[in-house]
Amino acid sequence: MKIVACNSNRPLAEAVAAALHMPLTRASVRRFADMEIFVEIHENVRGEDVFVVQSTSYPANDNLMELLITLDALRRGSARRVTAVVPYFGYARQDRKSGPRTPISAKLVANLITEAGANRVLTMDLHAGQIQGFFDIPVDNLYAAPLFARDIAERFAGRDMMIVSPDVGGVLRARGMATRLNCDLAIIDKRRERAGVSEVMNVIGDVAGRDCILVDDIVDSGGTLCNAAVALMASKARSVSVYITHGVLSGGAVARISSSPIAMMTITDSILGTEAVRVAQNLRQLTIAPLLAEAMRRISDESSVSSLFE
Ligand code: R5P
Repeated sequence: MKIVACNSNRPLAEAVAAALHMPLTRASVRRFADMEIFVEIHENVRGEDVFVVQSTSYPANDNLMELLITLDALRRGSARRVTAVVPYFGYARQDRKSGPRTPISAKLVANLITEAGANRVLTMDLHAGQIQGFFDIPVDNLYAAPLFARDIAERFAGRDMMIVSPDVGGVLRARGMATRLNCDLAIIDKRRERAGVSEVMNVIGDVAGRDCILVDDIVDSGGTLCNAAVALMASKARSVSVYITHGVLSGGAVARISSSPIAMMTITDSILGTEAVRVAQNLRQLTIAPLLAEAMRRISDESSVSSLFE
C-alpha cells in the first residue's frame, strides 16, 4: 500500500499517512512556467496498491488536473490498483441538467477520473448519493454523520437540542442525524412567493427555547446557513450551531459567518482551512483523517468499508 499526496490538502494526507504508520510516497507535483502541471513519482509503484489523496476544492480546476495527471503517472508506472481518494468531490452540485443546453459536469468529472486511471474512488458525503452511479468503477462514499453525532452528543449533553435542515432538499440528511441523536427535527422552507419579491424563510417546527443544530453537506457562500440562523433566532431559538462536512467557504463566507448569529460552525478538514478559517471565533474543524485511514486500510485488506457505519 502506498499513499501519494497531491497539493490541495497535504496536511490531511500527512495525517492519514501518520494514522497508517507509513510515510507518504515521494513524489513531486510542479508547475512549468506556463502553469502546466508536471508530476513525478520518485519511488517504484509497480504492482502496488496506491491511494492518491486530493480534494478537488478551490482552485477546483487546477486541483482536478493535478489529480488526473497523478493518476496517469501511476497507471503508466504500472501500479496494480489506484484509488482516487477525493474527500471533497468538486463539481458534485452540477449533477443534472439545470436547464436546456447545460452540462452534467459531475458526470464529466467522473469520466475524467476513470479515464485517467483510477480503479476505484473513495470520497465523503457526496452531494447526491446517485453520483456513485456516474462511475463504472467502485465508489466508497464515507459519512461524517457518526463523527458529528459523537461531537454533538458530547457538546450538547443535557441541552434541549433540535436538528434543523436548512432547506427542504436536506431533510433526509437532517432526519438521519435527528434519528441518531434521538431528538426532534425542524425544517426551513425557503419560498419566493412572487418573482422580484425577496425569499421568505418559514420555520417548520417549534424551535422556541431550543438549541438548534443545522446540518448540511456544503457551506459555500454561507448564505443558506446565515439566513437559516437568522430565521431560527427570529423564531425564538435559544442558540444556533452548525455541522457541515465540506467547508468550501468561497468569497466573503467566513466574514459572513463571523457576523451571523451562528454560535459555532463545525466543519471537517476535507478541504484545507484557510488562515481566515483558523482565526475565526465561531469556526472549528474536526479531522476525518482517522476515518479515511481506516477506510483505506479496509480497501487494501479487501474488508468491509460499510461496516464502519453500522
Ligand atoms: C445545496 O444543495 C447544498 O447542500 C448547500 O446547501 C449549498 O451548496 C450551500 O451553499 P451556500 O453556502 O452558498 O448557500
